[in-house]
Amino acid sequence: MTENHASPSIGSPMPRAVRGEILYFTGDPAALGERALAHFDDGLMLLRDGRVEAVGGAADLLPRLSADMPLDDYRGKLILPGFIDTHIHYAQLDVIASHGEQLLNWLQKYTFPAEARFADPAHAAAAADFFCDELLRNGTTTALAFATVHPASADALFAAACARRMRMITGKVLMDQHCPADLCDTGTTGEAESRALIERWHGRDRLLYAVTPRFPATSSAAQMHAAARLFAEYPGLYLQSHLAENRDEVAWIGRMYPAARSYLDVFARFGQLGPRSVFAHCIWIDDEDREHMADTGAAISFCPTSNLFLGSGLFDLGRARAHGVRVGIGTDVGAGTSFSMLQTLGEAYKVLQLQGQPLGAEEAFYLATLGGARSLHLEGRIGSLAPGCEADFVVLDPAATPLVARRMGGCTTLAERLFVFMTLGDDRAVFATHVLGEPAWRR
Ligand code: GUN
Ligand code: ZN
Repeated sequence: MTENHASPSIGSPMPRAVRGEILYFTGDPAALGERALAHFDDGLMLLRDGRVEAVGGAADLLPRLSADMPLDDYRGKLILPGFIDTHIHYAQLDVIASHGEQLLNWLQKYTFPAEARFADPAHAAAAADFFCDELLRNGTTTALAFATVHPASADALFAAACARRMRMITGKVLMDQHCPADLCDTGTTGEAESRALIERWHGRDRLLYAVTPRFPATSSAAQMHAAARLFAEYPGLYLQSHLAENRDEVAWIGRMYPAARSYLDVFARFGQLGPRSVFAHCIWIDDEDREHMADTGAAISFCPTSNLFLGSGLFDLGRARAHGVRVGIGTDVGAGTSFSMLQTLGEAYKVLQLQGQPLGAEEAFYLATLGGARSLHLEGRIGSLAPGCEADFVVLDPAATPLVARRMGGCTTLAERLFVFMTLGDDRAVFATHVLGEPAWRR
């Protein structure tokens, strides 16, 4: 990885300032309560070189503004760290809202045909542009995303993210069995193609590579070994996959690996657990699995809209938290039904309500920001607006729609307002998104 955290200049060297209500988290509010919040009703951030230089109350920091410094005045709006989507498929844009199937049939009927179209680099490039713009329109500035089996699909997404200076972590999918012939690589080609992509993109600007075995059903044992080799070989690499999402899928993996104690144990036996391995779903796991994930630094991506849409099941956040597992939020587009982190948090609340775990609004926004950063081991860089962090942020509009404005009018606390944003908010609530301090999208 060539990126150097100590290097000061990642964005424009021209200082700029941003004023508005500012909120970020310094810890997990589920554990620390109010002490986990940094909140300024009338706040000011000074930005330089793409990072936060200072943040605090406007009254304290205004004297540090020079007359010629550009100022984004977002008073009346709420500024939060840019959202972090820890699981999404850019090639599944056109799969969203496909009716009637659960996971394994949904893959065959809708998803594999849509991914096969990414053999065409022009299709991939257009989809990657649309995808990055849609993330920014929804306030998401970092994503851990699946490409397709085609190496050029990963090139396209890296290029689109690089052009927008976004933090993007992606990789070509590894799949060499139990999939249509036109979507199959081999143990050898998959490893060689991944290696070439790593050399080309990992650590370039804000981009990072994720080794991407789709799930153990679609990778041979040889390919699972190859994935683990790559993951171990390059510093800072990610590994992303799917884990224990659907009951038929879990039974299938059990038949493929009868000696494994659990689905997670399959990944463990291949040496794929560790810091920066991120597993989507993790619905049908047990406490021993949770303990193992916590011990190794592996993370879960909680994908509520997807889990409801495919009828997969209810993710148990309480037990994950009790065992200290890192958890972030994933939209999982296209099994997930929205790019909006606000809508996704609203659905997370409902999934947890069904289990008697009403998710606090501060905890929800923590998961979408600092919690996501921690799950990716990128704390100190993203997910926060503390001095030194990369100045990716989203500006939410409490008057986004007549109903949001009306309901906000009845709120007396920050937690109530956050809860309105996650229950009623969507892309319309995103007033602006900044990447490395610069406006990347504005309503
Ligand atoms: N499991 C294996 N592939 C996929 C996928 O594309 N989406 C989801 N939700 N689960 C998967
Ligand atoms: Zn997925």
